[in-house]
Amino acid sequence: MTAAAPAPRVPFLDLAGLHAEMRAELDAAALGVLHSDRVLLGPSLDAFETSWAAAVGARSAVGVGSGLDALSLGLRALGVGPGDEVLVPSHTFVATWLAVLHVGAVPVPVDVRSAAADWDPAALEAAVTPRTRAVIPVHLYGHPVDLDAVMDIAGRHDLVVLDDAAQAHGARLGDRPVGGLTHATAWSFYPGKNLGAFGDGGAVTTCDPGTARRLRSLRNYGSSEKYRHDEVGWNSRLDEVQAALLAVKLARLEEHNARRDAVARRYDTALAGLDLVLPERVPGTTPAWHLYVVRSPHRDRVRAHLASHGVETLVHYPVPCHRQPMFAGTGLADRHLPMADRLSGEVLSLPMGPTLRPEQQDAVVEALHAFRP
Ligand SMILES: Cc1ncc(COP(=O)(O)O)c(C=O)c1O
Repeated sequence: MTAAAPAPRVPFLDLAGLHAEMRAELDAAALGVLHSDRVLLGPSLDAFETSWAAAVGARSAVGVGSGLDALSLGLRALGVGPGDEVLVPSHTFVATWLAVLHVGAVPVPVDVRSAAADWDPAALEAAVTPRTRAVIPVHLYGHPVDLDAVMDIAGRHDLVVLDDAAQAHGARLGDRPVGGLTHATAWSFYPGKNLGAFGDGGAVTTCDPGTARRLRSLRNYGSSEKYRHDEVGWNSRLDEVQAALLAVKLARLEEHNARRDAVARRYDTALAGLDLVLPERVPGTTPAWHLYVVRSPHRDRVRAHLASHGVETLVHYPVPCHRQPMFAGTGLADRHLPMADRLSGEVLSLPMGPTLRPEQQDAVVEALHAFRP
């Protein structure tokens, strides 16, 4: 006798289903580039950069090879280098920290208040030392950080702010989109993001023409004129195929985010009253709902229970950055970051995306109601 078939499988994210909705346009966009003779730094990138800058309220967008490169080049363009301290949350994807290390700077973790990686402004300011040069607020899960508070502290201590918006395409603070509110904003177009490419990709947006110029040089071997290299640059360019495909998806970003918002609202209502910490809603902010993350002290058992009901979940992230093996012996693991430690054991990302159907969401909700600690 075989075991009963599991309830309908609910994937964490159905990218194939999403792309099927715009198949003809995506095919045409990709083929248009393949049939042209411009595959790098061409018209599709120019057009996408113009549209992306406009969409996020920035003066310029500079397409690069990945979100990690967007952060690394962003820091370099803002003048952050060896020995500088950079304030970061520990509850984030490791790329936020890697970028700091790649420019030779020192990540200094400041503990967060909630799973949305927001800081208590007083804690942030208390972490500033004479060596602090930059701050990287992270709009984790798509929840916009209060950038006014961060910019205020940065202004008083002469720091630069590069916000990590890898998970926040379309997030807003009041009526202001994230993307043009700091010295520069780093984006990832990793396929699973709200605006995802078909491979790696990223961008930096900024309102400062000098920073944009420097980024265009840094992504292209440190060169602004062919075969003249003013500084040690990278090869990190968003290619024409990705730019053309991203333009197709950008035209639907708002609609996709509205569908994510509807999923989030449905979870909010259906899960209220359960023994779970639900995402906080901060008045006046519009999250991008990249992820819908709940918290439970029984996270691993809840996750196994959902899996047994055919529901796929993920954990963002199970190990805080300061406890990663690469820092063994540096003393970082001894830092007192109780919230980051706690979150890594409690957070659970439920299925989320524009294509999540109500009956699939019902299956998630029913399974969560059936969980017994
Ligand atoms: C918060 C955060 N920062 C940075 C990155 C790095 O982006 P990428 O994967 O495009 O390098 C990601 C995504 O992977 C992310 O979620």
